[in-house]
Amino acid sequence: MQKPSSERQPEVNRRDFLKGAAASAGVAMGVMAIEGCSGLTRVGPAATVPAFKPREVVRIGFVGVGGMGTNHCNNLLKIEGADLRAVCDIVPEKVANVQKLAEQAGKPTPVGYSAGSWDFKRMCDREDLDLVYTATPWEWHTPVCIYAMKSGKHAATEVPAAMTLEECWQLVETSEQTGRHAIMMENCCYDRSEMMVLNMVRKGLFGTIVHAAGGYMHDLRELKFSDAGEGLWRRAHGWKLDGNLYPTHGLGPLAWYTNINRGDRFDFLVSMSSAARGMQAYAAEHFPPEDPRRKEQSVLGDVNTTLMRTVNGVSIMLQHDTNLPRPYSRINLVQGTKGIFRGFPDQIYIEGRSKQHEWESPDTYGKDYAHPLWVTMQQKAEGAGHGGMDFIEDYRLVNALRRGWYPDLDVYDAATWSAVVDLSVKSVAGRSRPVDFPDFTRGKWKTAQPIPIFDADQPCRV
Ligand SMILES: NC(=O)c1ccc[n+]([C@@H]2O[C@H](COP(=O)([O-])OP(=O)(O)OC[C@H]3O[C@@H](n4cnc5c(N)ncnc54)[C@H](O)[C@@H]3O)[C@@H](O)[C@H]2O)c1
Repeated sequence: MQKPSSERQPEVNRRDFLKGAAASAGVAMGVMAIEGCSGLTRVGPAATVPAFKPREVVRIGFVGVGGMGTNHCNNLLKIEGADLRAVCDIVPEKVANVQKLAEQAGKPTPVGYSAGSWDFKRMCDREDLDLVYTATPWEWHTPVCIYAMKSGKHAATEVPAAMTLEECWQLVETSEQTGRHAIMMENCCYDRSEMMVLNMVRKGLFGTIVHAAGGYMHDLRELKFSDAGEGLWRRAHGWKLDGNLYPTHGLGPLAWYTNINRGDRFDFLVSMSSAARGMQAYAAEHFPPEDPRRKEQSVLGDVNTTLMRTVNGVSIMLQHDTNLPRPYSRINLVQGTKGIFRGFPDQIYIEGRSKQHEWESPDTYGKDYAHPLWVTMQQKAEGAGHGGMDFIEDYRLVNALRRGWYPDLDVYDAATWSAVVDLSVKSVAGRSRPVDFPDFTRGKWKTAQPIPIFDADQPCRV
């Protein structure tokens, strides 16, 4: 089996690379004083990253065109004003595949880059790109985004944006210092049901929100053990890390409901993992005795449960569960003084409207609470990845760049939501000790406005 990429030695030491990229742009990395036992707080001015500059055409370079990257490229090839100029992947055939897709769509052939793991730097150095978008394995997200911003491009990345607190801060600092955006493309914020719930929350249907729950609960055993795609890198993270390694699908929509970084912020978390049994049990059942996968030791607890509390007193329960047989769920629960919603499958209870003590289907609420973005975009999104939400998120990003808007998801969302990876690992390692969240906004959360209910042609911020 090819060694997962996170096990291979990168050709360049990653920390040196980050330092080098910062230094080359004349960035004073020392301005931030690090406080506290776990380096959670950095003191320093939080510069405001301005809205995008409007442009007719958005010139895009894409890094990592495996499963999800190809999906995004397919969307971009359909979105008006998106110009896929360059494509990079360590596997030349994957680059050739996207070049073919572009030609089939009647678009110019994107220039290909596939000369090794750091060839994205050559692509980022091109003058004619506005945005560098990456769907590489997790460990590459921050390095690609940092280099892209240092090269004057905006950056968009698949989830999570970062695997460590250090990377989270690097994203924030580099974004503020370069004035370029780093956007984590959390597609689940744009799913139909989550957007309807956001609309319900904004309209006060649940009253004052006090609790929410989410998760990423997806039986990935077959995928993680495969010898292609995520099988080449994802399970290797579970050999080293025990915590919530994939928090943002469940957390992103909850953070929008509860105004995280926009009136409230995460204060602290505690995290606990079950034993790691699922991967070993699967390997014993599916592979012959001599197969090396039977000897692998996963340390990633099969079910990780993280509890967070916000400064304003909302509690949030978040789970990660990818190593056991089970149907898919992101939970998507939100609860307030007037009622509760829970997803997968969707159910609702509103005091005074629902039959007492009984869940009901939210179908009858649809016409009053359907999110306008979905009403407008449903047809266009039909047939696109993950029920259409991937197309809608790509459309929103390209549209924000074209219209000169502030992006729906900013670098503070990317850092705050991704920070759960490292914070949960630290808490689990410390017998579920409480760990404080950094305030990546350095106070800006107090005045930032909640995400509004926007239609396709409306910005998220005026
Ligand atoms: N938002 C979602 O719903 C969703 C769904 C699936 C995957 N993802 C995320 O998308 C990312 C990619 O996942 P995937 O399923 O497409 O995995 P994948 O393994 O199919 O694709 C990753 C691609 O990156 C390439 N690559 C690796 N290192 C590279 C480098 N240094 N430079 C250029 N290319 C490189 C690989 O060759 C591969 O083609 C991951 O972060 C994953 O978590 C998100």
